[in-house]
Amino acid sequence: MTLQSAGQDVFGIESQLSETRVFAPNAAFAKQAHIGSMEQYTREWERSISDPEAFWGQVAKQLHWFKPWNKVLEWKAPDAKWFLGGKTNLAYNCIDRQVKAGRGNDIAIIWEGEPLPNGKPEVRRLTYADALAETSRCANALKAMGVKKGDIVTIYMPMVPELAIACLACVRIGAAHSVIFGGFSSSAIVDRVVDAKSKVIITADGGWRRGGIVPLKDNVDEACKGTDLIKHVLVLKRTAQDVAWTNGRDMWWHDAVDKASADCPCEEMDAEDLAFVLYTSGTTGKPKGIMHTTGGYMVYTYLTSKLTFDLHAPSPGAPSKQVYWCTADVGWITGHSYIIYGIMPNGVPTLMFEGAPNFPDAGRFWDMVQRHRVTHFYTAPTAIRAFMKWGDQWPKKHDLSSLQLLGTVGEPINPEAWMWYHNLIGGQKCPIVDTWWQTETGGHMITPLPGAIPTKPGSCTVPFFGVDAAIVNEKGEEMPANTGGLLAIRKPWPSMLRGILGDRERFIETYWSTIKTKDGTPYYKAGDGARRDSDSYFWVMGRIDDVINVSGHRIGTMEVESALVGHEAVVEAAVVGMPHEIKGTGIAAFCTLAPGVHVDDALRERLRSHVAKDIGPFAKPDVLRFTDALPKTRSGKIMRRLLRDIASGKAQVGDTTTLEDYSVLAKLKESEEG
Ligand code: PRX
Repeated sequence: MTLQSAGQDVFGIESQLSETRVFAPNAAFAKQAHIGSMEQYTREWERSISDPEAFWGQVAKQLHWFKPWNKVLEWKAPDAKWFLGGKTNLAYNCIDRQVKAGRGNDIAIIWEGEPLPNGKPEVRRLTYADALAETSRCANALKAMGVKKGDIVTIYMPMVPELAIACLACVRIGAAHSVIFGGFSSSAIVDRVVDAKSKVIITADGGWRRGGIVPLKDNVDEACKGTDLIKHVLVLKRTAQDVAWTNGRDMWWHDAVDKASADCPCEEMDAEDLAFVLYTSGTTGKPKGIMHTTGGYMVYTYLTSKLTFDLHAPSPGAPSKQVYWCTADVGWITGHSYIIYGIMPNGVPTLMFEGAPNFPDAGRFWDMVQRHRVTHFYTAPTAIRAFMKWGDQWPKKHDLSSLQLLGTVGEPINPEAWMWYHNLIGGQKCPIVDTWWQTETGGHMITPLPGAIPTKPGSCTVPFFGVDAAIVNEKGEEMPANTGGLLAIRKPWPSMLRGILGDRERFIETYWSTIKTKDGTPYYKAGDGARRDSDSYFWVMGRIDDVINVSGHRIGTMEVESALVGHEAVVEAAVVGMPHEIKGTGIAAFCTLAPGVHVDDALRERLRSHVAKDIGPFAKPDVLRFTDALPKTRSGKIMRRLLRDIASGKAQVGDTTTLEDYSVLAKLKESEEG
């Protein structure tokens, strides 16, 4: 995809180019903010870039270390080591440190489950002392199953507090976790379990979503048929439905965890010990296990949480004035960094919810904001667009006056959605932080700081401290203002990925080999196309590779293609993104079929279900088109750019000079779904 077409086709770059509205930080907010002016931001940013070791060393001192580091940074591109020689523990900094500071009885996690059949919300509040006891018990239960430092435990759970507890229990004993989003299917679990060589899975009998049960345990059972690696399955009772049981392998949480000791000292982890693996999509069909380590990730997510959301820990024992709610699932990086690991060390209650934004009705989020007096609300543009469509009456029915700050993440936000968020939800008084980052970056990379940086609808504004972001060409040369290019990071940052599990070559190839600077300095290639405006603000256009963001979920087009060709009816498939009013990007699939296969809606449904079974329901194509042949270049490459043009309904398709067979194009245009 060319940068130009990425922006124009999918993300409405033309409207972004004409965006001139600027919103100065709210003066009252700025007055109390950690970073309260552009001057302060600029000064600190320059310091963080010119002397990163001094800057990050100072931040790291705000957290607990069993043993201090000897050196802040060692950078032998593309390998960074942060806080060398330092010993710490993520769980200790999330929980124990708060308990030791006198916050044992303060609220750490607020949780709201899907409303019960009687319509009542189910709410639980865990103090730091509760979290300490439950995490320690779970950690001891894992130890009893033979889990030890260096193992990778797979977690496949609904959005319940035990999911956060399970993560914290793993890192407490030095085991890394690999959380798989509950929307993934059993075959996706097999791939990830095999790649991580997991011997233990933590799951639940099911999870609630829109009144139905997500069959998590059934999916795990099915996955266990595909690999004999799994020795233990720890099962939380959530829905109380009957589930199949394998004696000797399966164990109930309430048996194993509740009976375990609540005393479990933290493993003293080397700053560079693996903290977790999180699988994400890339340009091949095989998801990659992104590796994050302990010290740098901890320090960076702590500081970004503190400054991007302007969190202020209450005095120990005093109720928090802030209630922070991130609506993401812990199955994605946003949930890892900004529900658990960055927020808990800041001492502000983190709200987790189970269910969906429109169940039992489209007022669910606003009802929750009102009841919990949420002050900080962080969600995805796709949710905002859905709310716009569901109508203003839903937010208007609720008291949203507690809100002080709004955030977005996961995809570019169109200025119209930004304005709606600002007016309807923020009551024109809340700063909006549009945070650009990735699974690989671990934390926010480009984002406004709410008390300091004027915002422009659709722009993620300026780099965070320590982030040397630039728009470059493939030679690493900076592009002039308002010219599209590759979004690159030129210096290491503490929470950068340390690699792809078991695939060094792919790590180097994906992130470090496209941009070839004259002096050989490697730059991190994010995989996004972007531009900077004349104020040096960043505007992210979207992915420039074969990855698409569908409703903020990252999907590789190759993954969907290999699922489709795995079905007997399909011979060849090409999948591309297409503009979608709510999802941002929808999935369009072009397939050639086996001889004699009859095209009808039933076939479309079968193929959609097949993709859901192979990857997960969120990866189902929105549009399926069937054709005799796919357009290819003379060298046999599928012309995806052309398919993107067709999928987005462009009358004038792009350059076709290398198209092998012009008649293919004509037929494809006729193959409209219906
Ligand atoms: O394309 C960018 C988009 O999401 C991609 C990263 O996806 P993932 O690893 O799943 O992480 C999502 C949550 C951090 C990026 O390459 N993206 C993320 N945030 C933004 C964004 N695009 C534009 N603006 C954002 N604020």
